[in-house]
Amino acid sequence: MARILITSAIPYINGIKHLGNLVGSQLPADLFARYMRARGHEVMFICATDEHGTPAELAAAKAGKPVADYCAEMHQVQADIARGFRLSFDHFGRSSSQRNHRLTQHFAGKLADAGLIREVSERQIYSIDDGRFLPDRYIEGTCPNCGYTSARGDQCDNCTKQLDPTDLINPHSTISGSTNLEVRETKHLYLMQRSLRDRLEAWIDSKHDWPILTTSIAKKWLNDGDGLQDRGITRDLHWGIPVKKGDQPWPGMEGKVFYVWFDAPIEYIAATAEWADAKGLPDAAWQRWWRTDMGAGDVTYYQFMGKDNVPFHTLSFPATILGSGEPWKLVDYLKSFNYLNYDGGQFSTSRGRGVFMDQALSILPSDYWRWWLLSHAPESSDAEFTWENFQTAVNKDLADVLGNLVSRVTKFAVAKFGTTVPAGGAFGAQETALIADLGARIRDYETLMAQMEVRKSAAELRAIWVIGNEYLQAAAPWTVVKTDPERAQAQIRLSLNLIRVYAILSQPFIPDASAAMMAALGSDDWTWPDDLPAAMRALPPGQPFAVPDNLFRKITDEERADWQVRFAGTRD
Ligand code: 2FM
Ligand code: ZN
Repeated sequence: MARILITSAIPYINGIKHLGNLVGSQLPADLFARYMRARGHEVMFICATDEHGTPAELAAAKAGKPVADYCAEMHQVQADIARGFRLSFDHFGRSSSQRNHRLTQHFAGKLADAGLIREVSERQIYSIDDGRFLPDRYIEGTCPNCGYTSARGDQCDNCTKQLDPTDLINPHSTISGSTNLEVRETKHLYLMQRSLRDRLEAWIDSKHDWPILTTSIAKKWLNDGDGLQDRGITRDLHWGIPVKKGDQPWPGMEGKVFYVWFDAPIEYIAATAEWADAKGLPDAAWQRWWRTDMGAGDVTYYQFMGKDNVPFHTLSFPATILGSGEPWKLVDYLKSFNYLNYDGGQFSTSRGRGVFMDQALSILPSDYWRWWLLSHAPESSDAEFTWENFQTAVNKDLADVLGNLVSRVTKFAVAKFGTTVPAGGAFGAQETALIADLGARIRDYETLMAQMEVRKSAAELRAIWVIGNEYLQAAAPWTVVKTDPERAQAQIRLSLNLIRVYAILSQPFIPDASAAMMAALGSDDWTWPDDLPAAMRALPPGQPFAVPDNLFRKITDEERADWQVRFAGTRD
């Protein structure tokens, strides 16, 4: 039994995420966690909400709530939706937790002790009416290059010129619209990533099995331009983790907080501590996942995220860990994803274009979404959600192939042989061939799942369902029963056992349908079919079973057309 630590990128607190966000981190991480648990491994699966930063403050202001209250509410909303999608986190933490405060301050203190923090004086725009320094993208004005009147402080969207906010003509705050701005001097802490460059490069170079997408992004940032830059890890904001050196004040840094991207990945560790706290366990319980001096030496750590998060996880967070000089666990395998687009364009949170997690659950159960998203995961390139494709996949794979097999077998069995598993004679040549074919395919499926080849795993699972249908079609118990009822009984006994094996294999993808299949068979034996011939005899003759409610319904053309219009983009 291996010990497997899995983290999904932690979603920002401000607003409900869309399906593209879900498939880029939480959902594939859940697939892997479920699979590894099903294989009997000890799994710790962690996620959290990412609660700091200007967007969180502004979203709270827009909602007219104190930011702490807003975050607490939105955390609950996101936790409920995650449950709705059956995301099986061992803990869903909060980056604003006291655990994260202490751990973030601890790391900053260790980095300072190691001589890896320097203070930098900067000139920044202060908005007198807003009573705050403005991050670059909250300042707009006229582009000195092209005259575009809505250029942002960091870049002009019209001519793409990189800008400094002080370059803008007639700058104003996008928070209040105020033009009452001035340049003020402010001091910030910088993490000296440059001095860790060689160690980071050697570490990344040692990861021969990482996906190209991951290493190419890491290498680009390591080598682009002047190479890895030192990075500001503090901000002039009210909401966040106060800058401290361990538990000591940091002179000159009063009133400042750590940058959200400094504390967010540390929350992976803190959330595991929150898990231990929630369970009333001692520190050793979480430390054995994270500290190699406390038992984490045999842990394999997997991270899941969208490609935009890769630089922070291959460079910045490892710089924090390595720079601390302490024996914290570094990631062993980083699985990254491209983007999922929506119906000929992009998902847009601001314009409400695309399907958001809460909306998805309001129209169909989570298994439908899980299946489509995972079987179309944007692995080798960006992928696109279209309603036609979604309708086809659900109707064919789930309703016609899997659902139909389950309903045909159980209904026929009840009609002909009653509500217990029939006996029949020994399995014949067709059954033996099916078991051999299935056995080989299951081994392929296991390999793909272990490699986190999400799409290919889904394709293999679909193929596994298909061969069951083909067997049933060829065996034709509904015909055989007329001449050889004993043989028809054996065929049905095998088919009922096949449904149980399908429930186990499919559980990481479609947990609710799997649970319904297992419940209908009156079993709760989820043992992985390492020994397939034995698994195909697990349900003994005489075992009661029932016909499950329709597992999957079909999506109609009317529904598809209606949803297409409904999610085209209106939400504020
Ligand atoms: O992209 C995002 O949604 C970020 N909130 C991810 C943070 S992952 C990590 F650093 F914790
Ligand atoms: Zn311009």
